[in-house]
Amino acid sequence: MSIEQMGVVGAGQMGAGIAQVAAQSGIRVTLSDVSEERLQLGRQTIASSLGRLVKKEVLTSTEADQALALIWFSANLADHHQNELVVEAVSEVESLKKDVFAELNTICLDTTILASNTSSISITRLSSVVNNAERFIGMHFMNPVPMMPLVEIIRGIGTSDATYLAVAELAKRMKKTTVVSQDSAGFLVNRLLMPMINEAFFALMENVGSAADIDLSMKLGTNHPLGPLELADLIGLDTCLAVIEVLHRELGEDKYRPCPLLRKHVEAGWLGRKSGRGVFQYSD
Ligand SMILES: NC(=O)c1ccc[n+]([C@@H]2O[C@H](COP(=O)([O-])OP(=O)(O)OC[C@H]3O[C@@H](n4cnc5c(N)ncnc54)[C@H](O)[C@@H]3O)[C@@H](O)[C@H]2O)c1
Repeated sequence: MSIEQMGVVGAGQMGAGIAQVAAQSGIRVTLSDVSEERLQLGRQTIASSLGRLVKKEVLTSTEADQALALIWFSANLADHHQNELVVEAVSEVESLKKDVFAELNTICLDTTILASNTSSISITRLSSVVNNAERFIGMHFMNPVPMMPLVEIIRGIGTSDATYLAVAELAKRMKKTTVVSQDSAGFLVNRLLMPMINEAFFALMENVGSAADIDLSMKLGTNHPLGPLELADLIGLDTCLAVIEVLHRELGEDKYRPCPLLRKHVEAGWLGRKSGRGVFQYSD
């Protein structure tokens, strides 16, 4: 099954990136969010990302314009009714995602595939609010979507082979490499990544080293392109905390206990790059 028309719900950093890469692959995209203001921010994110690709000569300006023209920005969830596949990329809150899927379930066609870009929440549990779990799947893109080559595919207990194959084909068309994970808290990527980020916050809280030195240790000592604290700022500290809470709750082990310093940053609204301040400060 080849997808020619898809939707993305949530025009934040992930949703905007998914819509952009789909449009660059020639797919018509409906990108929705809760307000015109959010959509405007999403449009700006996409336009500047396409602009950077033109500057780097990855795309011509005509190709960038064509991609942007394939995206329809809408504040109305009902506008997803004709889409063959809809990827949900709203904030990492289970109740919010379930509300979105319950609505999509009534809006979309019986044949529409519903996918979640969740970083950690059970695909099987999210699928419980739709009529047909066969058409429900996890499609976990990495941040920033236009740059990162991986998509993690997660099958829920009811996901059909046809749904898996359609999503794997879509990821390939978007020039992504896929891995398959069981439907287990944090899947593969965040099961490995988030304990490291959480531990970096513990090391910072206990004054084992400065934030700069914690990051340098992993960059120069283990060849990571970004240190764990700057990566956490890029991901969003609210998202990191939500994922670590899922690991802690669902795997039930103390080693996943969220670091109090991470929690404090989130409570202060220091969410990372997207709010201008996280562990580090951002001027633009
Ligand atoms: N940030 C990352 O590095 C990363 C990586 C992979 C996956 N994810 C996952 O992607 C999802 C989105 O993360 P993000 O970083 O883009 O968050 P974000 O905060 O940048 O964006 C979330 C967007 O969802 C919108 N939204 C909230 N409720 C909505 C609703 N009911 N209907 C429509 N839109 C709604 C918000 O207005 C916002 O624009 C989360 O599930 C997150 O775990 C994030």
